[in-house]
Amino acid sequence: PLVKDLFGLTELEERIRSHYGLKQVVIVPGDSDVSPHTKKELGRAGAAVLRKLVTEDEVIAVTGGSTLAEVAYHLTATTPLKGCWFVPARGGLGESVELEANTIASTMAKKTGASYRLLHVPYYLGEEAYQSLMQDQSIAEIIQFIRKARMVVHGIGEAMVMARRRKVDPETTESLRRDGALAEAFGYYFDRQGNILQKMPTVGLRIEDIHEMDMVIGIAGGKSKGEAITSVLRHGHENVLVTDEAAAQEIVQRL
Ligand code: BG6
Repeated sequence: PLVKDLFGLTELEERIRSHYGLKQVVIVPGDSDVSPHTKKELGRAGAAVLRKLVTEDEVIAVTGGSTLAEVAYHLTATTPLKGCWFVPARGGLGESVELEANTIASTMAKKTGASYRLLHVPYYLGEEAYQSLMQDQSIAEIIQFIRKARMVVHGIGEAMVMARRRKVDPETTESLRRDGALAEAFGYYFDRQGNILQKMPTVGLRIEDIHEMDMVIGIAGGKSKGEAITSVLRHGHENVLVTDEAAAQEIVQRL
C-alpha cells in the first residue's frame, strides 16, 4: 500500500472505479509493455483478486492469453478454490496452445487443486457446422456446464493485434478495421464506444451470458492497451479491473 500511495495509484484506482461504477480496480506500478516484471505483478494481482472474490464450489470461466497465463502461474491451492471448476470461456480462438483458454483452465486447476473441463472445438464455425455440433450430446453438455459460470476472468487485447495473432482472414480484418475495431475480449471485437462488432455463431459463452454474470474480471495492462481497455469498460459490463499504471494513465485521459 505504501508503494502505491507513493505513485498516487490509490487515487487513480478510485477515479476509474467510480467513473465506470466498478466494484474494484487494482493498479500495479509500471508498464507491462516494457517491463516483464510489471506483467508478472499484474498476474500476481489478478491471482489475488480471484482468490478473494471466489466462493466455494463455483464454475470459473477463463480466457486465454499471456496475461491470464501469468495469473495461472501465481495461483496456489487455497480452500475456496479447491472445490471449483475451471472451464474455458470459449472454444479455441486460433491461439497457440500455450495461450489457449483450455490450457489456462487446466493449469489453473492443477495449481489450485481444483477441477477442470475442456472444450475441444473451434470458437468460430459456419452456421451449418455450428448447428450440427450443437446436436452433439457431449458438446451440448459441456456448453451447458460452462454457462453455469457466475464468474469470468478475461484478458483484453488490441483488436488488430489479436486479429493478426489469430490469423483472422484479410477480408474480416479489413471489415473490422473499417468498423473501427479497437479492442478484443473473449472473442468479441469492440469499437471506441464499446459497441460489439459482428456477432458470429460461436461456441461457449455468449455475450448475453457474460452480461448476466455476477463477476466479470478484466486483467490487462501496458500503455498500448489503454485505449482497448477503455472500449471494454465503456461496453459497461465489467465488475473488476486489474491493470497497470501505464494503461491506467491512458484510461483516465479518456474519462
Ligand atoms: C485471448 C483472450 O486469449 O487473450 C482475449 O481470449 C484477450 O480475451 C487476449 O484479448 C489477450 O492476450 P494477452 O496475451 O495480451 O494477454
